[in-house]
Amino acid sequence: MTARIVITRRLPRAAMTLLGDAGRVWISPHDRPLTAGELREAVAGAEAIVTLLHDRVDAALLEAAGPQLRCVANVAVGYDNVDADAARERGVIVTNTPGVLTDATADLAIALLLAVTRRIGEGERLLRAGTPWSWDLSFMLGMGLAGKTLGVVGLGAIGQATARRARAFGMQIRYSGRRQAAPSVEAELGGARRLELDELLETADVVTLHCPLTAETHHLLDHRRLRRMRASAYLINTARGPIVDEAALVQALGAGEIAGAGLDVFEREPEVDRGLLELENVVLVPHLGSATTETRTAMAELAVRNALAVLAGEPPLTPVT
Ligand code: DGY
Repeated sequence: MTARIVITRRLPRAAMTLLGDAGRVWISPHDRPLTAGELREAVAGAEAIVTLLHDRVDAALLEAAGPQLRCVANVAVGYDNVDADAARERGVIVTNTPGVLTDATADLAIALLLAVTRRIGEGERLLRAGTPWSWDLSFMLGMGLAGKTLGVVGLGAIGQATARRARAFGMQIRYSGRRQAAPSVEAELGGARRLELDELLETADVVTLHCPLTAETHHLLDHRRLRRMRASAYLINTARGPIVDEAALVQALGAGEIAGAGLDVFEREPEVDRGLLELENVVLVPHLGSATTETRTAMAELAVRNALAVLAGEPPLTPVT
């Protein structure tokens, strides 16, 4: 039996409930990403596919699905795993899940910012290792945030939410990006100013990445750009790993060209560069930006609603542009 809706990995119960009597639904029985071969086999004949960010949806996969495919509903705001141009050429609608994960991701960006500037990971490792220590005035000093500058690369919804939180810690906001933010947004962020990326990197105490991964942003932070950052500055990445040249980052961190990094995403997930694992001045978490029960449920529900809307001939709630 050909499935009408293919779901490449188990979704939260609330999202599954929405499928109700949607018709033939195939859900991957595996608690892991499908291999490329399994994915090709699963999507054959589908009208809608609900995908996760680890599923590569390229022209070949769209071809394998067949001409009846109408929707790829990605359970993520980022959709760099989907060839949106190839989908458009075939008349396939691609949707993502913006909005519902903004707060959770901004919370995690701030968690990483605090963790790396206050050496939380390092301190915890020290205690767990049973290393002798005593309180003294120079023990494990970090960087205070009040009066420091947060450089936001990409002042979209998540960038703004992160900046708003950083304001509560007394940080000044600077940003870079393709568009100037509305005056009301700049004012709400305490007079945030837009700078060219190089100037932002040269002046920020903490740089936080919130741009999408595209051909233009791949390795946006390469060796040359990392060297523009201050030796006392920190990098936070909750966007996508390949925006940073990971080998160059390991080198910059190891050589003291920047002070530290808080990373939620990696260039070749789920692999994490050995060099990063060996450094003390990085905090690493496994792509947890949206990982709250509420957020992941809302993301899955939104993706399912998008797929159902397209199948019903209605406009999707959140198509990608
Ligand atoms: C997204 O939605 O793009 C996030 O990376 C998921 O956590």
